[in-house]
Amino acid sequence: MTPTATLGHFRAEAADNKKKKPMQNMTPQNLRTPGPTPIPHDIVDAMSSPMINHRGPEFDTLIKKTTEQLKQVFMTKNDLMVLTSSGTGSLEASVVNTLSPGDRVLAATAGAFGDRFVDLAEAFGADVKRMDFEWGGPIDPDAIRKALNDDPGIKAVLVTHNETSTGVTHPLEEIAKIAKGEFDKLLLVDAVSSLGCIPLPVDAWDCDMVGTASQKGFMIPPGLAFISISERAWEAQQTAKMPRFYFDLAEAKKALEIGQTPYTPNLSAFFGLSLALDKLLEEGMENVFGRHASVAQYTRDSVEELGLELLVADQAYASDTVTAVKMPKNVDGKAFMGKMRTEQNIVLAGGQGKMSADIFRIGHLGYVVKEDISEVITALKKVLPEVGFKP
Ligand SMILES: Cc1ncc(COP(=O)(O)O)c(C=O)c1O
Repeated sequence: MTPTATLGHFRAEAADNKKKKPMQNMTPQNLRTPGPTPIPHDIVDAMSSPMINHRGPEFDTLIKKTTEQLKQVFMTKNDLMVLTSSGTGSLEASVVNTLSPGDRVLAATAGAFGDRFVDLAEAFGADVKRMDFEWGGPIDPDAIRKALNDDPGIKAVLVTHNETSTGVTHPLEEIAKIAKGEFDKLLLVDAVSSLGCIPLPVDAWDCDMVGTASQKGFMIPPGLAFISISERAWEAQQTAKMPRFYFDLAEAKKALEIGQTPYTPNLSAFFGLSLALDKLLEEGMENVFGRHASVAQYTRDSVEELGLELLVADQAYASDTVTAVKMPKNVDGKAFMGKMRTEQNIVLAGGQGKMSADIFRIGHLGYVVKEDISEVITALKKVLPEVGFKP
């Protein structure tokens, strides 16, 4: 399928999707949160298929097919496991399968999800050297190099590829070159809001563990997490002493060999995943990345044309999956977002953590085309003056 045909196909489907009510008695919405994201109708239909035996031959076929397809999306030959959990489960799996209590780790953060990775590692007893960077800006790879130079005891580097709370894509390739190429540390990556939308070639960048979630770029609901595991990470797994049970990846690997998962999988989400992966690979990952990049650029340009200010000053780091916009000074954020939802049926996301009141965010990932965003822009033009915005 050519890129244009693919986008045309997406457009027609997206328009159709707008007619769908999220719940009984609810008006159809243009869901612009950075996850969960809208789902194509045929995927919704696939997910309503009857249950199958998760220890039977049909599931064996399903898990093996989807795992191989996921490896293509991750651009990896490493092992890859599908977990029944939200994205945080994959991040917990990355930590508890490679580290022991007291292990020194470097965690770089510039937002709410970077902070959560720190909290997670600390909860399991890691000795975290936390590096804070300004929210709205990128992690500085040189600072990572310096920290690793200064502290040779560090075993692993934890990093968020795309910081959803600020709309920043961190320079993971450069960070990986340093953490892996120069210092040979374990590299654990939160790719929850980037994988499948923004290029992250896991093998080319030598990332040891990369975790992501179904409700972001994969056009299916929350409920599945995906994690890739390098040889090096499996070696670390042999000696890692952090407590683990549900997220013990050695159990997941053993089960996968016989076409199963250790515990009952989210079968409905698996049905959706299978079709979603067919669609993504049919569109072609380069085209999928290109679609995200062009929709994101259109979002940023249009928002600026309205006289609004983007949070991310250096556009080189602006995310292709979510755009953070500064809340205009004299605008009541709650009233503005409430009006967008109730009068325009557009659901935006607010800020998170210390930026709760300072920004609003427009999600543009997964099942998204330019028309979804032009609707947002038209609605912003109408609603913003009504809540006191003067450019
Ligand atoms: C970058 C990032 N990391 C982690 C998470 C947590 O994922 P989940 O809520 O699926 O556990 C999210 C969710 O928004 C995210 O965007």
